[in-house]
Amino acid sequence: MLQKPRGTRDFLPEEMERRRIIEQRMRNTAMRWGYREVCTPTFETLELFTMRSGEGIIQEMYTFEDKGGRELALRPEVTAPVLRMYVNEGKVLPKPLRWCYFADCFRYERPQKGRYRQFWQFGIELIGADSASAEAEVILAGHEILSNAGVQFTLHIGHLSPMRTMLAAIDAPVAKTVMGLLDKRDFEGLEQCLTDLRHHELLESLTGLVQSKTIDEAFAICGDIPERERIEETFAILDGLDLPYTLNMGIVRGLDYYTGTVFEAFAENLGAENQIMGGGVYRLAHLFGGDDVASCGFAIGFDRVMVSLGETELVRPPVVAVLSTNEARPRSFEVAGAFREAGICAELNLMDRGIGAQMKHAAKSSDFAAIIGERELARGTVTLKNLQSGTQHECGLDEAIAEVKGVGAC
Ligand code: HAM
Repeated sequence: MLQKPRGTRDFLPEEMERRRIIEQRMRNTAMRWGYREVCTPTFETLELFTMRSGEGIIQEMYTFEDKGGRELALRPEVTAPVLRMYVNEGKVLPKPLRWCYFADCFRYERPQKGRYRQFWQFGIELIGADSASAEAEVILAGHEILSNAGVQFTLHIGHLSPMRTMLAAIDAPVAKTVMGLLDKRDFEGLEQCLTDLRHHELLESLTGLVQSKTIDEAFAICGDIPERERIEETFAILDGLDLPYTLNMGIVRGLDYYTGTVFEAFAENLGAENQIMGGGVYRLAHLFGGDDVASCGFAIGFDRVMVSLGETELVRPPVVAVLSTNEARPRSFEVAGAFREAGICAELNLMDRGIGAQMKHAAKSSDFAAIIGERELARGTVTLKNLQSGTQHECGLDEAIAEVKGVGAC
């Protein structure tokens, strides 16, 4: 028996329905903030991803050469493609641009629960607004999208400048190693690394910075930095709105394009792979031939959100099974058509079964049964049975449609 590739998943209809409900909630929230959906290709030129991150990233990607000898890659994320698109198509559009996306991404990683080789991201990118309000908007929208999805999470917000300022004093390769260890939250490794290199003072100050509870504490450790005013302004907006978050000056972010405020969200009920959102302020457009425009965005790990939601009850649109005798079969197509026109899912009986057997089947897969027997056929009515409560009554088609519509989200 052939199996699916490692790190990929199949989704049965039940799961797809759940996923679509949550996806739509995320899209609706983003749209209320003014973010409009965009779509980029599933594969891009390899260079788009190596330009900022270097060749090292190739081993974490699905790369291939096409028949024309072009080096391509399945997208490991959507920010670089969206910024490429901005440079190609969006430079003349009025700024700021508010774009959102829902897309599958591909990373050649060791699969485990919550870590897949094909996974979906819901993200937003705010392009062309360089202000504290822009940063605050993106963070607030991210918080609202996750809250509306129904997931329990904690939000961590930090800024890269304090740490980068402190690491400027040491060799670049060591600084990179240190940031890598902080990104993985490997504090033992960090201690080992800095002790071996006799950077005892740096270890102490970095530990202090990471543990800072307020931005004033962080500035007391890293000193006065040029970004201070902007950082204070961003946090003042968030604090003024009582956004619940934890200050975390230890956030590094794995991707190389961030330049300022960074943030991550963690689901409360997931294990090791509990980061469900990551984002921040970055600059990429200039690398792709565009202007050096400030951008800010995030991506939500959609699959992790779904794992976190578990079996949470979600309202799904009602399904009506249209049951009929053989004589009423042509009428059953008309009745099902009328339900569908009203936006309701209607399933026809396709098998050679009696009404009793059709009802047994309907009870397993539908919320209502609309029965058309001899009497209903003659009178132009249906008998509508609510399969949850068991109540039933004969009525006109319009009344039946109104009753089904009143029960669930159509
Ligand atoms: P990222 O942190 O690499 O950021 O990915 C965002 C989210 O995608 C993660 O927080 C995680 O929930 C999910 N994720 C990452 N890898 C996997 C995987 N292998 N399996 C399942 N979920 C995964 C970005 O991709 C940036 N482009 C975010 C961004 C947008 N920054 C600015 N704009």
